[in-house]
Amino acid sequence: MGARTEPEPGLHVLVRGYRSAAGLTQEELAKRSGLSLRALSDIERGRTARPNKHSLALLADALELSEPARARLMAARRHLVAEVGCRESAGDGDGPPVAMPRLLPAPVRCFTGRVAELRVLNDLLEQAGSRSDGLITAITGTAGVGKTALAVYWARQHLAEFPDGQLYVDLRGFAPDGYPLPSAEALGGFLEALQVPSGQIPATLDSRQALYRGLLTGKRILVLLDNARDPAQVRPLLPGSPGCVVVATSRSELTGLVCADDARPLTLDLLTFAEAHELLAARLGADRLAAEPAATAELIALCARLPLALAITAARAATRSQFPLAVLAAELRDARGRLDRLATGEDATDLRAVFSWSCHQLSAPNARMFRLLGLHPGPDITDAAAASLAGLPRSEARRLLAGLTRRHLLAEPVPGRYALHDLLRAYAAELAAATEDEQDRRAAIGRTLDHYLHTAHAAALLLKPSRELITLTPARSGVTPEHVADHLQALGWFEAEREVLLAAIAMAAETGFDAYAWQLPSAMADFLDGEATGMSRPRFSAPRWLPPPASETPRGRPRPAAPSGRHTAGSPTTTRHVVT
Ligand SMILES: Nc1ncnc2c1ncn2[C@@H]1O[C@H](COP(=O)(O)OP(=O)(O)OP(=O)(O)O)[C@@H](O)[C@H]1O
Ligand SMILES: [Mg+2]
Repeated sequence: MGARTEPEPGLHVLVRGYRSAAGLTQEELAKRSGLSLRALSDIERGRTARPNKHSLALLADALELSEPARARLMAARRHLVAEVGCRESAGDGDGPPVAMPRLLPAPVRCFTGRVAELRVLNDLLEQAGSRSDGLITAITGTAGVGKTALAVYWARQHLAEFPDGQLYVDLRGFAPDGYPLPSAEALGGFLEALQVPSGQIPATLDSRQALYRGLLTGKRILVLLDNARDPAQVRPLLPGSPGCVVVATSRSELTGLVCADDARPLTLDLLTFAEAHELLAARLGADRLAAEPAATAELIALCARLPLALAITAARAATRSQFPLAVLAAELRDARGRLDRLATGEDATDLRAVFSWSCHQLSAPNARMFRLLGLHPGPDITDAAAASLAGLPRSEARRLLAGLTRRHLLAEPVPGRYALHDLLRAYAAELAAATEDEQDRRAAIGRTLDHYLHTAHAAALLLKPSRELITLTPARSGVTPEHVADHLQALGWFEAEREVLLAAIAMAAETGFDAYAWQLPSAMADFLDGEATGMSRPRFSAPRWLPPPASETPRGRPRPAAPSGRHTAGSPTTTRHVVT
C-alpha cells in the first residue's frame, strides 16, 4: 500500500480555517467582505452547493489571503462544483437540473431612506401573483441616484419569496467603453448559473432564450437586470412566466418596456434632506453631524442630495476623521473644483466618470445641448430659451431636451421647465469650458441674454404701455424671443421666469455682458414694482439692483430707478438669487 495523501479539506473547512487564523468573527468577516452573514454562514456550513466565484474573491480580499491560499480556495470551489455537477447529472429529480442561483451582489453599506419606494415595490410584489407573465418593474433615475442600491436592498429583503433563486446581471448599458453587454451573452451567463453545462449552451440568441424560458417555467425566481441601456436589451431576458419577478434598472426611461411589456415604472428622485442626513449619519456617526449642523447641511446641499455624491463625500470625511466637517464643506464649496474633489480615480465611484458614462452615449447634438445647458444661469429653462441658447429651432431644442430627460441628465419637475441638478450643471459647465471654444461659449451666453432681454422688453411694454423705452440692440442670429400676447401672459411670463431673470442679471455682470446687467433689471422694474405694491402675486424679494456702468448708460437718459421691494444682501451667485 502506498503512502496515503491527506484529502484536501472542503471549501467550508478552508474558509472557516482562514477566518479563525485571521482572528475574525463571522460577523466581522461578513462586514469586511460585503457578504451577508447568512451567505457566509452557509458557505462555512457547507450548505452552498455552488459558491459564487465573485463572493469567494471578496472573502479572499477581506481575509488578505496570499496567492497560494487564494488558489487553494478557488481549487476547493472547483472541486465542490464538479462534485455537485456529477450528483445532478446522475439525476435525482424529474426535469433537467436547475440549481438555485444566488447571484445578487452585496447590498450597499448602511442603506438608508427610500421608505416610500420600498413600499411601492412591496405593493407591486403583492399584485404579482395575479399576472400571468410575471411582474416587471423598471426603476429609473439619474446616474448615482441609488437605483442599484434600492433594487438590491429590496431583493435581499425578499429572498424567501424567491425560493428557486435570484439571477443578477450588470447589463453595462452606460459602460465607459460604450459596449453594453449583448443580451445573448447575458443569457449565456444566466444559463451557466442555472447549471447548463457550457457545451450545451446554444449559440444563438433565440435558442438561448427558449432554453432559459423553459428552465424558468414553474419556478419562482427574481431576475435583476441592472443598468439596462434600452428595452431591446432587456426583452430577451424576460422569463415570461408567472412566478418570476423582473426588476430592471436604467438611466433611461425604458418607456417601451412600460408601454409594450406592461412594466411598472418607479422613478427615483434625489434624496430628501432628512434621508441625506440619515445617510451621512449612518456612515459618519450622528454625533459628528450633531457637532456641526451647519456644515452638515452645507455638505448635503453641495452634494445636491445625490446619494453617490453623498457616499463619496462621506468616504472622504470618514478617512479624515480628525477634520472638521466645515473644512470638507469649504473644499467642496467652489463649484468649479467640486467635481475634482469628488473624484476618487475609480471608475465606479468617480462622479465625473459616472456622468461621462451617460454623456458618451449622447448623439452630437444632444451632447452639445447638454454642454450648453451648463452655461445657462438656471435654475431652470424652457424649450424656447434652450432654442436661443443653442441657436436652434424650438422644435429641435424640444427634441433634444426630451432626449436628455429620457436619460435623466435633465429633469422636468414642472411641465415645460427643465432643470439640471447642481452637480450635473457643474459637470456640463466643465464640459462646455473644455469643449466649446471661448467664442462659441460667449455666443451662447449672448443668445441666452438676448432671449431673456428681448422677451422681457416686449412683456414689460404689455405690462405698462406708457413706459419709457430703451433702445435695444437687435438680437443675435439664432435667437427666437418668445411671443407674449397680452398683459396676463406678460405677467405669467415674468412670474415663471423671475428666478431665471435674476440669475441672468448676475451672469451678465459676471461675464462682462454689462449692458444686459442694467437693461434686464430695467425691463423687470414694472413687474417687480407691481409685486411690491401687490398688483401681481409677490413670491420673493426683489434682486439687488445692478447699476449700469457709466459707459453703458444711454447718453442723456437717467439711470433706471432701482426696483422697489426688499433688496438682497451679499453678492449674487449664478445659480440662485432667491432671498427669502
Ligand atoms: N438608499 C441608500 N442608502 C445609502 N447609500 C446609498 C443609497 N442609495 C445609493 N447609495 C450610495 O450611492 C451610491 C450610488 O448608488 P447606485 O449605484 O445605486 O446608483 P445608480 O442609480 O444605480 O447609479 P448608476 O446610474 O451609475 O447605475 C451607492 O454605491 C451607495 O454608496
Ligand atoms: Mg446602477
